[in-house]
Amino acid sequence: MGTALKKLATVADLLTGAEFSAPRVRELFQLAADVKSRPKRYRTALAGRYLALIFEKPSLRTRVTFDVGMQSLGGGAVFLDHTGTRLGQRESIHDVAKNLERWVHGIVARVFEQSALEQLAAHASIPVINALSDVYHPCQALADFFTLEERFGNLTGLTLAYVGDGNNVCHSLLLAGARVGANVRVATPAGYEPNSTVVAEALQAARETRAKIEILRAPEQAVAGAQAVYTDVWASMGQEDEAAARAKLFAPYQVNEALMAHAAKDAVFLHCLPAHRSSEVTDGVMDAPNSIVYDQAENRLHVQKAILLTLLG
Ligand code: CP
Ligand code: NVA
Repeated sequence: MGTALKKLATVADLLTGAEFSAPRVRELFQLAADVKSRPKRYRTALAGRYLALIFEKPSLRTRVTFDVGMQSLGGGAVFLDHTGTRLGQRESIHDVAKNLERWVHGIVARVFEQSALEQLAAHASIPVINALSDVYHPCQALADFFTLEERFGNLTGLTLAYVGDGNNVCHSLLLAGARVGANVRVATPAGYEPNSTVVAEALQAARETRAKIEILRAPEQAVAGAQAVYTDVWASMGQEDEAAARAKLFAPYQVNEALMAHAAKDAVFLHCLPAHRSSEVTDGVMDAPNSIVYDQAENRLHVQKAILLTLLG
């Protein structure tokens, strides 16, 4: 079944994040807030429904929150370890999709290549959810903006500064920020800017919400007056052999107390985690009272439960 054909069916995927328009993000956040405050109400919402969790890369947060999330909704999850063999290696992605759709009601996949997710979605008649790819991490960005809304009450006009590598997390923050109406400023070293197609998409979405999207070089300029300062690892999973070279290049982009001093007085610090303490962030910033990194991690659970209810319910 082709992707175009599938869009006509009632099943929806979460492959890039663009599937959730601004009003749907709003609905999702309302549902996530209800799931968070009244979890018992949803105890059997997905009873008898099962999820396959395909992971080509390691995970703590994403794996646990999807598994626990599914169980707390009355369903079940099956973990398929693909950290040793890539998806499509033992049998084709087509055949994996055609088998899984006979047993489970949704697929969560963490992959090296976005195209693997797209192939899964094209061939499976069940929803496919991106649990991180080389280009996007939509569940993370949705949970992050939900966390910021909890903290500040309103996302419109809020400025988030992302400092570091223009990677998957950065891309999803740009796209989600533009859609929820938050300004996103990104500062990266030369050559590590976010993908220009993703930036163009974010700028397009920002036209409707009036969010301001800026791609900058100087970390201080990005952070100046921002309410939220965000960073991620300098070398993502799969880039381990570049870690030493990147460490030198990214050193001026460390989020430390001196950089945080440029942010707004009530600014919070965010990180998707796992963090490399003393590299992209200091202990002082990670462990400060205004660090909301574990709130973000907690909210992965509630927001993903809302995503599961929306796609599998
Ligand atoms: N932030 C995040 O996705 O964490 P994991 O890699 O542990 O899933
Ligand atoms: N950019 C990081 C995010 C981990 C959650 C990576 O892809 O490894």
